Amino acid sequence: MNIFQDWPEPIVRVQSLSESNLRAIPNRYTKTLDQISKACREWGFFQVVNHGMSPQLMDQAKATWREFFHLPMELKNMHANSPKTYEGYGSRLGVEKGAILDWSDYYYLHYQPSSLKDYTKWPSLPLHCRDILEDYCKDMVKLCENLMKILSKNLGLQEDRLQNAFGGKEESGGCLRVNYYPKCPQPELTLGISPHSDPGGLTILLPDEQVAGLQVRGSDDSWIIVEPAPHALIVNIGDQIQMLSNSIYKSIEHRVIVNPAFERLSLAFFYNPKGNVPIEPLKELVTVDSPALYSSTTYDRYRQFIRTQGPRSKCHIDELKSPRS
Ligand code: OGA
Ligand code: NI
Repeated sequence: MNIFQDWPEPIVRVQSLSESNLRAIPNRYTKTLDQISKACREWGFFQVVNHGMSPQLMDQAKATWREFFHLPMELKNMHANSPKTYEGYGSRLGVEKGAILDWSDYYYLHYQPSSLKDYTKWPSLPLHCRDILEDYCKDMVKLCENLMKILSKNLGLQEDRLQNAFGGKEESGGCLRVNYYPKCPQPELTLGISPHSDPGGLTILLPDEQVAGLQVRGSDDSWIIVEPAPHALIVNIGDQIQMLSNSIYKSIEHRVIVNPAFERLSLAFFYNPKGNVPIEPLKELVTVDSPALYSSTTYDRYRQFIRTQGPRSKCHIDELKSPRS
């Protein structure tokens, strides 16, 4: 046995690396890949700092949306949405008459693919809102594209594998849902958003730093409140990536509680597969020991569940579980 006799591979002096004017350190020295891998597998949620997004832009984005929600109702209602596309100013998800509702209003818009981007559906006020949004969403897409590479590598796949499964960069969907949770006189009786898992691919949430509210389902079924770090972004895995990864990555249930004294505002950016590409466990991840757990669907088809029924825990993805599992 060779153990203890020699190093398993050539030794690299860290001092030489440091003195060679590298811009980025080699992957072998990065701990984040492994941390992200664990988080995706165990929690489906993690916070990122040093994400490259400008803190000023993050603050501006929240400020302009806060201003929007404080505009007179007549102005906001000019952007009222309908269940057809959901774009615009809305107050419910699902079309069931008499349904129990969530204590939140929202604004929903498409950023990409370019065929779905329609500036007339974006707010016309506050004045710089559209420009700020454009910058914000552009950076969000970059971040999502980077995360997609990391997520692929952490599954032992080529770095463009998940992106290709989404239908490519140009065709992947990017949309923003701005959540506005007004203060509530009886917070113990209601929720800002009912328990749900995100139906899309990947979500990047810019939370309210002053008011906590997001709770994530723990492995013991408890609800764990997320305390946002300053200028951190919260990333979570959605149902499409859970299916593509054959459940190696988890799309975890979460909900939002509301507050008697303070309103809360959050920006959720959703990064989704192209609507009509087949979504099913990637063949590299399907083996005799880990057979495919889901039957094939498309995101367009999948999204209809939540758009008609509203948030319902994890029952949408469970409907696609293969009979043999
Ligand atoms: C969502 C969501 C959490 C929050 O928009 O899907 O879970 O903190 N939002 O607003
Ligand atoms: Ni969500």
